[in-house]
Amino acid sequence: MIQMAVLGFGTVGGGVVEVIDRNQDVIRKTVPQGIYVKYILDLRDFPGNPYNDRVTHDYQDILDDGEIEVICETMGGREPAYTFTRKALERGISVCTSNKELVAAHGPELLEIAKAHNCSYLFEASVGGGIPLIRPINACLTQEDITAVFGILNGTTNYILTRMEKSGLSFENALREAQEKGYAERNPAADVEGHDACRKIAILSSLISGKTVRYEDIPCEGISRVTTVDFGYARSINRAIKLLGVSRKLENGKLSVRTAPFLVREDHPLHSVQDVFNGVFVHGNMVDDLMFYGRGAGKFPTASAVVSDVMECARNIGRNIGCNWSGEILSIADPKEESYRYFVRVGKEEEREAGELLHADFMVHYEGAPADERAFVTAVMTEREYEEAVKSLSSVKQCIRLLQD
Ligand code: HSE
Repeated sequence: MIQMAVLGFGTVGGGVVEVIDRNQDVIRKTVPQGIYVKYILDLRDFPGNPYNDRVTHDYQDILDDGEIEVICETMGGREPAYTFTRKALERGISVCTSNKELVAAHGPELLEIAKAHNCSYLFEASVGGGIPLIRPINACLTQEDITAVFGILNGTTNYILTRMEKSGLSFENALREAQEKGYAERNPAADVEGHDACRKIAILSSLISGKTVRYEDIPCEGISRVTTVDFGYARSINRAIKLLGVSRKLENGKLSVRTAPFLVREDHPLHSVQDVFNGVFVHGNMVDDLMFYGRGAGKFPTASAVVSDVMECARNIGRNIGCNWSGEILSIADPKEESYRYFVRVGKEEEREAGELLHADFMVHYEGAPADERAFVTAVMTEREYEEAVKSLSSVKQCIRLLQD
């Protein structure tokens, strides 16, 4: 049997153990020797849990065992996940992870260590939850010049936005539901402020460019300022508000990358991606548009993706599964040069001035809109032009980009 260990017995780690147990017969069709979880590392004990006898509090037990060939790092966060991962890879033990924070921060370095020690560092579950996305990009699309990847990359915020839109739930109640369902990060700010989606688009951008796109370089806005009033306006122009990660190759070869809420037209496939589901478009120069869709968070979908990596490692013991991602930093395109149409809400008193400065194209109304404000969609402007124009206005309440049609 392939012996493995799970680091972190939380939602995803617990899911990994259960998937391996419940689907052992299915797994054996591809990995005939089977997979056995020998250790679970956690600070806690789990009295009454059938796996409690496998729990250790000492990582050294796992490293020194001598039989462990694969480790699932489902702890999340930078440390001690980084140190534990390094130590495992340096001993030739493959590591599979759902930890996008660690992958975004140290991916290329850990990939190098894995290569040097004939083992693998795989991270299918780090983007898109249960959606097979990383392996298709790394294995099925290596013949393509991938010119764009964009979509809904965070299940929690998509769940919140859907509940606000469809059921009129408050932001707080929708977030609480997402937390109860095990979708949200330990610190929900990582979801609602867009950092999680930003790390995911950084990982995808790195994979399509082969270099490192630092998430710190990517403009990042979350959904904490989106209100039910915005949904009222959005509905009246047949759009939904979605938090998107967007990465596009420009004609000059640079990559333009951003994470922000966007107004998405109802005839766009991303419009119908609801609840915890993620939807990701990949555009290749030969294959054209591909769309990947599935549950972007949650115990079993995420665990399923981790276990798919474990099986890939089990089939490649003693070999490195390569990945085209170097540590060279990619300088991304100037975000201020991006052009959009913007949905803007301003105080009624600045209606005329705002309309002129921001080149209002058409007004947006809905029954129930606050009487003391006006809303409109601008003509196409660069970010720089928008920022300049808005400086002389004092009553701008909202600005959301329209996804280019
Ligand atoms: N909090 C993340 C999300 C978990 O909601 O998408 C999966 O990465």
